[in-house]
Amino acid sequence: MEFRTRAIHVGGERDPQTGAVVPPLHLASTFVQPGAGEWGEFDYSRSGNPTRKAVERTIASLEGGCGALCFASGMAATHCATMLLESGDHLLAGTDIYGGSYRLFHKILNRAGVRVSLAAADDLAGLEQAITPATKMLWIESPGNPLMSITDIRACAELAHQHGLLLGVDNTFASPVLTRPLELGADIVMHSATKYLGGHSDLLGGALVVKDPELLQRLYFVQNATGAVLGPLECFLLQRGIKTLELRMREQCRTAQRIAEHLAEHPAVTRVLYPGLPGHPGHAIAARQMDRGFGAMLSFEVDGGYERAKHVAEHTELFQLAVSLGAVESLIEQPASMSHASYDREDRLAHGIRDELIRISVGLEHPDDLIADLNRALS
Ligand SMILES: Cc1ncc(COP(=O)(O)O)c(C=O)c1O
Repeated sequence: MEFRTRAIHVGGERDPQTGAVVPPLHLASTFVQPGAGEWGEFDYSRSGNPTRKAVERTIASLEGGCGALCFASGMAATHCATMLLESGDHLLAGTDIYGGSYRLFHKILNRAGVRVSLAAADDLAGLEQAITPATKMLWIESPGNPLMSITDIRACAELAHQHGLLLGVDNTFASPVLTRPLELGADIVMHSATKYLGGHSDLLGGALVVKDPELLQRLYFVQNATGAVLGPLECFLLQRGIKTLELRMREQCRTAQRIAEHLAEHPAVTRVLYPGLPGHPGHAIAARQMDRGFGAMLSFEVDGGYERAKHVAEHTELFQLAVSLGAVESLIEQPASMSHASYDREDRLAHGIRDELIRISVGLEHPDDLIADLNRALS
């Protein structure tokens, strides 16, 4: 079956007991067992829940994995993946990553004795140089947040495997509609399901997807032992959101492309970062690696530094001033003061996240209305 058919039917099968076309929501925290010491399919909802299992099957199918695990948030999912590492191990991450991942890696993982370093993931030679004998995992995002850098996932997978590392890819920005990292050789795909998968700004969730059953079992052990699972109500909402994922994503990409082209010509805009523009340094790789569009996230810089970027971000109306992304509502934010405020300033500037940068998440509103809204704020 094609992607959007699977998005509706895999994990969303009718209820055999009642014929309901939407599977029921299982809120039970515990399940009756056939006998003492005999276990049924479900025993306790942290270990497994039918509503969670259903949406995990959907996500695994869309990413081409053997299984998926759903978490209370994207950060809980990333944390679970990094708990595969042990004291003395080294985690190498791309520089253009979500600010919360940066904080987790530098301020939590270090407490467990895991050493972390960053290197630009679009520079393979530099990445290879940063690998040490202690390196066990490479963690990347493509498109990167907030600079929309494009990383060649296939090349990173080859590099990681030559050195015996696991490759984890945060696929939140692309979603499986555009990129399926497991097909390109990645070992672990992570999602903030809060974003495109959910798609409606009404749930917080995360997911890990893998193609190796043994790795799935290792991650499941950590998830069950630490407990940050996704609640059944959120699983239900997530399943509902995923049904329209492909259609939302295609349309949002189309609008983002139009907005990027418009901003590139705007006199108040000094730089547009969008992989769909031919001048973007990652355009050729993105054209190969992203199937049905170049994403619905874009960043741009304005003349006039921090204060001007702050002013523009505060003066749109349809683009609402908020972190997060990937929903039907368009959002705007200033990475320096919002999504990437957890970076040390020096580190942030060194990684190219300037004060005058503005990031937008393009939603499903009409493109003409969104362009008029940006024009108003820019003038
Ligand atoms: C790319 C990316 N990864 C991970 C996360 C973390 O996800 P969550 O907020 O669901 O914990 C976010 C959140 O903004 C994100 O944008």
